[in-house]
Amino acid sequence: MNAAVLATSRHWGDDCRQGESLAGHTTFRVGGRADLFHAPRTIEGLIGAIELCRGLRLRHVVVGGGSNVLFSDRGFRGVVISTTAIRGVLDHPHSFEVCAGEPLGGLVDRAEKQGVRSLSFLAGIPGTVGGAVAMNAGIRDRSIGDMVRSALVLTPDGLVREVSSKECRFGYRGSGIRQDGLIVLTATLGVDGPAYDRDGVIERKRATQPLSFPSAGCVFKNPDGWSAGELIDRSGLKGMMIGKAQVSEKHANFIVNLGGASSAEICKLIDIVRQKVYNTFHVGLDLEIEVIDG
Ligand code: EPU
Repeated sequence: MNAAVLATSRHWGDDCRQGESLAGHTTFRVGGRADLFHAPRTIEGLIGAIELCRGLRLRHVVVGGGSNVLFSDRGFRGVVISTTAIRGVLDHPHSFEVCAGEPLGGLVDRAEKQGVRSLSFLAGIPGTVGGAVAMNAGIRDRSIGDMVRSALVLTPDGLVREVSSKECRFGYRGSGIRQDGLIVLTATLGVDGPAYDRDGVIERKRATQPLSFPSAGCVFKNPDGWSAGELIDRSGLKGMMIGKAQVSEKHANFIVNLGGASSAEICKLIDIVRQKVYNTFHVGLDLEIEVIDG
């Protein structure tokens, strides 16, 4: 551990841990140890942590619920900053202002308590509001970007800015927020839109997705006009295993950790799936999940 990391850990005190296993902070349950893991409790703390790392030129990465990331077996040389301790939802007359680390489930609960069911399509999606906004998470016909009115973000030059929904440039499982390296601090979501039945949404997921195993949800984006799951399935890959990583038998766009899978096994399976689908259909698959180098 280098001196800057050590000094930083002293500065953050109880909210940070040295040598933290990242497996416990990802839904894949995979990943080695981070030099330092820090979960600030406030937005000011988050901004301060990022500024400190930038100032010291300390390698760092900001993560939410770890539901769309794959860390290396080597862990992460530097600081992993988690937003998960920064929670809270503020009700406004026709919107909710939500802190980055609020779990999507917490937002859905809060909205339903107010009689708002237009956000219930987000039920059953793991992860935090900040991560979901950055990657425009959602279901087939609706994404969180459809609901975002504005977001408060930290720019790469350390400025706090409010960006409009248009400036967020939401696209299919992506956004300008991600492309421009902005960090979501809070997001304001509107309430207009079709109502969803939360139990029905979760029930459909249970019926079609392997929710009883650790995974990062869909591994690949759906290529234009195709379904990645169907392409992988029709390439005969369902059930394929490398070590303890398996192409799910239930939904082929999920790779599941059968217990003790390594990051290297998952990466190998990803390569095989891409190659086989390309050889069979001449379609390239792009990752939806983010692979973070050690
Ligand atoms: N299919 C297969 N075999 C499979 C899986 C799917 O043939 O193993 C077929 C299905 O029968 C269906 C089609 O592929 O005809 C599409 O499947 P599904 O309805 O399950 O939807 P999807 O496109 O695979 C998308 C999102 C999911 C989201 C569901 C439900 C992506 C990459 N995936 O899946 O999001 O939960 O719709 O709305 O956009 C995620 O992003 O992590 C995720 C899980």
